[in-house]
Amino acid sequence: MKGWMSKLKAISALIVLSLVLSGCGEPFLSALQPKGEGSEMIFDLMILSIVIMLFVFVVVMVIYTFVIIKYRRKKDDDPNFIPKQTEGNHALETLWTVIPIILLIILAVPTIQYTFALADTSPEVNEEGEEEDSLWINVTGAQYWWHFEYEGLEVSTSQELYIPTDRKVYLSMTSQDVIHSFWVPTIAGKMDVNPTGNTNEMTLLAKEEDVYWGKCAELCGPSHSLMDFKVVAVSPGEFEQWVQDMQGVTGEEVPESATAQEGQQLFADNCMTCHAIGADPNKMGPNLTNFGDRTKLAGVEDYNKKNIVEWIQTKGKDMKPGNLMTSAPYELSDEEASKIAEYLMTLSPSDITTENAEDGVYKDSDLSSLFPEEEEETEEENGENTEEQGNEENTEQTNEENNEEQTDDQ
Ligand code: CUA
Repeated sequence: MKGWMSKLKAISALIVLSLVLSGCGEPFLSALQPKGEGSEMIFDLMILSIVIMLFVFVVVMVIYTFVIIKYRRKKDDDPNFIPKQTEGNHALETLWTVIPIILLIILAVPTIQYTFALADTSPEVNEEGEEEDSLWINVTGAQYWWHFEYEGLEVSTSQELYIPTDRKVYLSMTSQDVIHSFWVPTIAGKMDVNPTGNTNEMTLLAKEEDVYWGKCAELCGPSHSLMDFKVVAVSPGEFEQWVQDMQGVTGEEVPESATAQEGQQLFADNCMTCHAIGADPNKMGPNLTNFGDRTKLAGVEDYNKKNIVEWIQTKGKDMKPGNLMTSAPYELSDEEASKIAEYLMTLSPSDITTENAEDGVYKDSDLSSLFPEEEEETEEENGENTEEQGNEENTEQTNEENNEEQTDDQ
């Protein structure tokens, strides 16, 4: 009776545990509810490997149970009976060598295919067979925040990465101190960022508008677990507007209220060495261009004036232990810190915010306004071609060769 009870307890615990664990993961932070191209591929591989594992488990358990029941020693069996020995049975050994090989091949083919597909950062090709312009974003990891610089667009931001949906976004990634790992589980896989000078590349393709949560997935110091960030996926038309609004920011914009104006002066005197407002990428601390639109303070704390003042006054010592700002030399009164907070909260250059990622409104765009330099590039290429042709004696032949080369490349 006692043994039966403990078995019942164990089974109930297992049921409760599986119910609790199956509820794990919010939709905006779960690799099990993929909303991006990369995460879908990874999810498919997970399902495939689970199916194969289940198949092996079931087959083994069926044979095991069958053998236990069928060949159990009966009461009237001869106790000295030794069953027929099958050591060195060629058919059996071949069978249990070939089956795992087949299973591994089934697993390996899509895994290798997807690995190369996920590492592919070549430009996308549209329906007419033309290469589309690629939106590249330089990502820099730092203790304990992320910097995002939109290449060629004069837009920088940090902590909250705005991207368009339904369009591949290309990330060029590095670190300014130690190794971090960029991970937005709902959209894509992980990518390490290294401080040693090499740049890693990956792509993001979000299929639905939403605010996706990102984590640093590499132990990087005392506040590693607090190194959260967001990916704000808005429709392409809204993204285009966001970029245009962000491009206009210089940091000189004068806020409306007198308190915020005083805060702006205090910010300029005490904070501008490390922080930028506008596209300036060469700062040690997070870019604050659209700080007023942030959903979280420092990636993890509730976004409100009280917390911002506390952050300024404690330099984030307890909110994010080990962060670089703790060595900043400024000293401010609570009143001054409050004025700076008020100023920072006015920094909202765009009407496009996280709300647009959640309101279900979709504005389409091919983002062509973000790539005006396309024609110049073609001219440059033509220029190079002409030079090459000039150097050759037989211009016509070279032209043909060039055309052939280009066709081959495509
Ligand atoms: Cu950065 Cu962990």
